[in-house]
Amino acid sequence: MASAKILAFAASLRRDSYNKKLVQIAAAKAQQAGAQVDLIDLRDLPMPIYDGDLEREQGLPPNAKKFKQLLMAADGFLIATPEYNKMMPALLKNCIDWASRPEPNEPGLVAFTGKVAAVMGASPGALAAIRGAMQARLQLSLIGTLVLPDELGIARAHEAFNEDGSLKDAKQEQTVATLAAKLVATISKLKSGGG
Ligand code: FNR
Repeated sequence: MASAKILAFAASLRRDSYNKKLVQIAAAKAQQAGAQVDLIDLRDLPMPIYDGDLEREQGLPPNAKKFKQLLMAADGFLIATPEYNKMMPALLKNCIDWASRPEPNEPGLVAFTGKVAAVMGASPGALAAIRGAMQARLQLSLIGTLVLPDELGIARAHEAFNEDGSLKDAKQEQTVATLAAKLVATISKLKSGGG
């Protein structure tokens, strides 16, 4: 059976993003668990704020189309998100909004329906972006993605990572590995049609 295909990204553009570091670890763990992982940086796919006039006149912007195709090609998603003002970042909402738009002769929400996702968060604060991650979970589940219920947050993220990008706390690193492996196992079970 083909291995699980996972698209991994952080909902932050920042070069030194803690969420980029976190998703990078998770992507490596998913790979170790047997998945084929595509780790992308949303900075490489800048897209305008969703605009219905732009869509009507020109269709999906090229990077929105590219992002949607990456989602479509994946069986599941590994996402690390910050929270801004206790909410999911506009970046993530905007990417999802564009990718949710059907193109001619396409059923709705093809990029999300039947996919499996694991959502994590990192923040310098004490609450580890849990509210932003919770919203991202809700958003994805409302558009047809099966979201693992596991909560994984890295609090005090500015102190949590080593220079090489690994987590200082081996237990935290293990939690990331466990969630990544659970995502891979869930996708594999679904692909093989059972348990
Ligand atoms: C933040 N930050 C933040 N952190 C948090 O834990 N809860 C919050 O509600 C907010 N709100 C917030 C609003 C805005 C506008 C900014 C710019 C920042 C801090 C945020 O967690 C911090 O900038 C992280 O470093 C962002 O994640 P990355 O870029 O490191 O992945």
